[in-house]
Amino acid sequence: MSVPQPPEPIPGARLLFSLDPAVSHLNHGSFGAVPIGVQRAQQRLRDEMESNPLRFFTKGLVDRIAHTRRHLAGFLGADPDGSALVGNTTTGVAVVLQSMGLRAGDEVLSTDHGYGAVSLAIHRECRRTGAVSRVLPIPLAATDDQLVQIVRDGLRPGRTRLLVVDQLTSATAKLFPTAAIVGVAREHGTPVLVDAAHAPGMLATTVASIGADFWVGNLHKWAYAPRGTALLTVAPQWRDRIEPLVVSWEQESGFPARIEWQATLDYTSWLAAPAGLFTLRSLGLDRVRAHNAALAAYGQRVVGEALKVPPAELPDPGGPGVSLRLIPLPAGTAATIDAARALQARIGERLAAEVAVMSWNGSGWLRLTGQVYNVADEYERLAVRLPALLAQR
Ligand SMILES: Cc1ncc(COP(=O)(O)O)c(C=O)c1O
Repeated sequence: MSVPQPPEPIPGARLLFSLDPAVSHLNHGSFGAVPIGVQRAQQRLRDEMESNPLRFFTKGLVDRIAHTRRHLAGFLGADPDGSALVGNTTTGVAVVLQSMGLRAGDEVLSTDHGYGAVSLAIHRECRRTGAVSRVLPIPLAATDDQLVQIVRDGLRPGRTRLLVVDQLTSATAKLFPTAAIVGVAREHGTPVLVDAAHAPGMLATTVASIGADFWVGNLHKWAYAPRGTALLTVAPQWRDRIEPLVVSWEQESGFPARIEWQATLDYTSWLAAPAGLFTLRSLGLDRVRAHNAALAAYGQRVVGEALKVPPAELPDPGGPGVSLRLIPLPAGTAATIDAARALQARIGERLAAEVAVMSWNGSGWLRLTGQVYNVADEYERLAVRLPALLAQR
């Protein structure tokens, strides 16, 4: 079995991060990693805030937030006037759910690839309003056409008040044909919320080209922003109806200020986020994307080979542009979320490698990412040591 060559490393990239050099950081997907230059930019903003808090909050902060939002929206190909900064994707999803005016008899449709916390939010909103949550099963290997057909068959016109789909799924690293799904949902008059937590920085698709009613993505994963930076984009027909979770002083200013201004918070993560884009652009956006995707694919092949998974059985539900890759674990391993968490912790402690272990529909998967700070050797070392650790169950 031959493994393809890894991509050329990006020289010096590791030094841009404060990551512990004794650990292989192969799970950029969960919480990202903030480059040192971006951390410094945020610290400078905090210094400014602490030098005169009153001036910082009362003189120009709303405008600075608006300026940052326009910059980030421009990068993502989103409508700057139709976008609002929020703390994270989870918050953006909650804002949308509670603005939908769901009632008894309504239904929220999602898929079994959805993110756990988003599913919990859907359940709570349904419980609160008397609506029901319905989850569509989608086979991991479903083609785009099959997936769109499953969604088409699953929509119940007049009843499905919201369809929630991921752009790139967390547990299964599957890329959904979101623009086509939005097209089908529109034919049925169903609004769509796209959970794009992993898209900014990794995927080149513009937000506008998807055309969803609601789209929310994190800049604190693949766009190197400080944690607490996400963008929620809302189609024109919804902007007057969307309500913040917390009512504060900008409530009467309408969208997007009323969503963004959430009283006294530390807004420096947002203001420093353009420094993350600067880092990405300095390294070369296309180069970073190509490197990360190729390295993740390399890691999948080496670790897959060590676990005796034939290349044909290594899933590729994201395609060549995705920097998250899955390797199936032996049957019975990580069959539940608790077992997956325990194995992930064990790999971190025993092998000095941070990875994601996923449990999806009763089977266990290792999820590896590629980033500019990673090198082929880190996946190779994991491949050498992982089989023995799994055998110790
Ligand atoms: C698909 C998906 N949705 C939502 C989230 C939640 O992101 P956050 O914790 O930043 O709200 C994640 C986080 O990994 C995710 O992968």
